Amino acid sequence: MSVVAVIGAQWGDEGKGKIVDLLAEKADAVIRYSGGDNAGHTVINPDGEFKLHIVPSGVFYPRAACIIGNGVVINPKVLLEELDSLKSRRVDTSNLHISDRAHLIMPWHIMLDRLEEEKRGQDAIGTTGKGIGPAFSDKTARKGIRACDILDSAAFRARLAGVLAPKNEILTKIYNAAPLDLDAIFNEYSVYAGRLAPYIKDTTSMINSLLEKGSNIVLEGAQGTMLDTDFGSYPFVTSSSPLAAGACIGSGISPRKIDRVVGIFKAYTTRVGGGPLPTELKDSVGEYIRQRAHEFGATTGRPRRCGWFDAVVGRYSTQLNGFTSGILTRLDVLDEMETVKICVAYRIGNKTVEHFPADIAALEKCIPVYEELPGWKVNTSEARKSGELPRNALKYIRRLEQLIGCRFHIISIGPRREQSIVIKNVI
Ligand code: GDP
Ligand code: IMO
Ligand code: MG
Repeated sequence: MSVVAVIGAQWGDEGKGKIVDLLAEKADAVIRYSGGDNAGHTVINPDGEFKLHIVPSGVFYPRAACIIGNGVVINPKVLLEELDSLKSRRVDTSNLHISDRAHLIMPWHIMLDRLEEEKRGQDAIGTTGKGIGPAFSDKTARKGIRACDILDSAAFRARLAGVLAPKNEILTKIYNAAPLDLDAIFNEYSVYAGRLAPYIKDTTSMINSLLEKGSNIVLEGAQGTMLDTDFGSYPFVTSSSPLAAGACIGSGISPRKIDRVVGIFKAYTTRVGGGPLPTELKDSVGEYIRQRAHEFGATTGRPRRCGWFDAVVGRYSTQLNGFTSGILTRLDVLDEMETVKICVAYRIGNKTVEHFPADIAALEKCIPVYEELPGWKVNTSEARKSGELPRNALKYIRRLEQLIGCRFHIISIGPRREQSIVIKNVI
């Protein structure tokens, strides 16, 4: 038995979907534990290419229970569309389970996400516009509506009426927007309740029974460590915790039960949305990476900002999550580079800094200190053993390991399942 948490180690889009799909072969359950449909996880396997936003990436193995944990905020409309789309492509979704404690994204969350972003103007976070921040704020402020709350029609209507009235005041009086209609929302969400009822249950007891039976469990992270509300580049972060610690809260698994924590690192850095990105390449190299790797958001289609690997971030991420294994993805993207650079520290004014600063103004001023290594100029996408990788690629990998303080146990050299070099089993 093992419980493995799969964590985005940078700013998201590291390839978690590909890796969870790979690991899920041996899993009895795959659990999403944070975020919502701001996530976009790409899986390319013999069934085709899929972009999953809310359904766990273990769905392609009917044997594995796919659990949407209590820590996820669910837009029921998006979930139902995703299930319909999977079914239309003959993917069996009958093994899906939704935590009765998961909060729902309501229409005002999506409206407020957009209105708050507009009000921020120049300082906009660049959210995905999916209502994530407002939904998690309401959860913490004890104004949320959970999956279990929509199952009893009369109680749901009463809860909705109580929550909606102050939201309508905010919408009309602060933002000059039209109010939302109680009946329309009630009717819409009652239809969702009817369709989702069979899936909504006490997933925490289900997960703990699986643990008692000695099952293999994969905890599927969403977003990335640098988007964590506490430790990321605040306020340019998301509103839940993508960290390994978040996996416990978002699923109901004790920290003592997590055996392995796997950090997914892209061989370079990307970020979607606003906020500091110290190694960002605003030149032709950044554009080359974006085009070669097709770095456009899986959720919003926005171009991803690209830069060199940031080992200050990598080290910080290893510390925060306690990675027992690293997985390096998209190494093949760098195959044609003459040289590759790694940021080993930052210069801020006349100081050299080796830790990720909390202060956003300091972060904006960070100038990366680079080490430059020779490129390998060999196509790595067909390699299946580490011995088949060119010597300079191995040197790059070893240097990254030294700097971040964690060994890579899988090297990914393409988006397909089989384009993976497994050095040591992580499940
Ligand atoms: P996630 O959000 O972490 O699941 O990552 P995304 O799916 O948003 O973005 C990762 C992208 O990289 C997807 O298009 C994957 O198909 C692709 N991908 C994953 N691993 C590799 C790899 O090793 N090489 C290449 N070239 N693409 C990869
Ligand atoms: P996956 O799981 C990359 C970013 C948004 C924005 C910030 C806040 O695919 O790695 P939000 O809508 O969460 O309030 O936006 O977080 N963001 C992501 N960036 N990958 C993701 O998910 C992301 N989810 C949110 O672009 O900068
Ligand atoms: Mg993604």
